[in-house]
Amino acid sequence: MRNIIMDGDPGHDDVIAFLVALGNSDRLKIKGFTTVAGNAAVENVTKNILKIIDYLGVDIPVAQGYGSPLCREFYSAAKFHGETGLDGCLNYPESERQADSRHAIIFLRDLIMEDPEKTTIVTMGPLTNIAVLLKTFPEVKEKIEEIVMMAGSYASGNMLAKSEFNMFADPDAAKIVFDSKVHLVLATMEACYSGGILLSEQETLKDGGKVSRLAYDILKFYSRYAINNGWDRTAVYDLTPVIYLLAPELFEYKDMRVDIETDGVYTRGMTVCDDRGPTYIEPCKDPKRVLLNVDREGLTKIFFKTFRKMDEVYQ
Ligand code: RIB
Ligand code: CA
Repeated sequence: MRNIIMDGDPGHDDVIAFLVALGNSDRLKIKGFTTVAGNAAVENVTKNILKIIDYLGVDIPVAQGYGSPLCREFYSAAKFHGETGLDGCLNYPESERQADSRHAIIFLRDLIMEDPEKTTIVTMGPLTNIAVLLKTFPEVKEKIEEIVMMAGSYASGNMLAKSEFNMFADPDAAKIVFDSKVHLVLATMEACYSGGILLSEQETLKDGGKVSRLAYDILKFYSRYAINNGWDRTAVYDLTPVIYLLAPELFEYKDMRVDIETDGVYTRGMTVCDDRGPTYIEPCKDPKRVLLNVDREGLTKIFFKTFRKMDEVYQ
């Protein structure tokens, strides 16, 4: 059993990741969820995760975090997720529940420090909350197992040629986390794309139970971009770190030095992956695990098995 806290900007793919983690509660104990501005305003993404938690009737605490990056202007991804951050689920009832009264970084500090076991943090959005947590309460570092994140790319980009959204949105926060010496596992864009869910596979969720139909509604909206581009699949980005926690053997990866570009005009937020050999660089003292590819067959097996299981549990 691994204790996890999920931090993200739900967001269609963040919610799918949350559902798959929840559906594997025999392996992953979700201690809490902290929200950060990214796909939409922090108030919206907080409402979104509370809506999903209420809909399932589970008791997972939520704490709201930062509403803007450390230094940069807030950059919304409403283009992909809609103004609410979870368009396509507007017919699901809003939650009456309030988020925890603590700010996300106090909530994170408390949950991590009060647990005798270490905690793994799964990040699915900009790293604003995690950067401030590590700077304000450095004592948490020895209680963090590792941070498994949807972050960056080996060589591609979705915001700029070489910059992925979560890193682009708050590159200064990303630099603080990458320089923190906490062990990081990066689910890069390349790994996410290699594990895309086929549109035809997504259709099978429609005839499932309560949770499968929720996932269908979420992916129906989220896949518009793929459909409009004539693709046959959708990269459910944030699912990837959760699949890594459940089945690391499905992944090809390299351990290497990774730095965050904060001064680039054309490379803002680039994860500079340096896998040059010892001829050129000193051995890296805190290599990051860079996930490059996933066995799509193995990922989809876990994905659909989880939803079938959840349909039995959450009626
Ligand atoms: O670049 C993809 C990432 O940005 C995902 O986490 C998605 O939810 C958005 O936050
Ligand atoms: Ca996200």
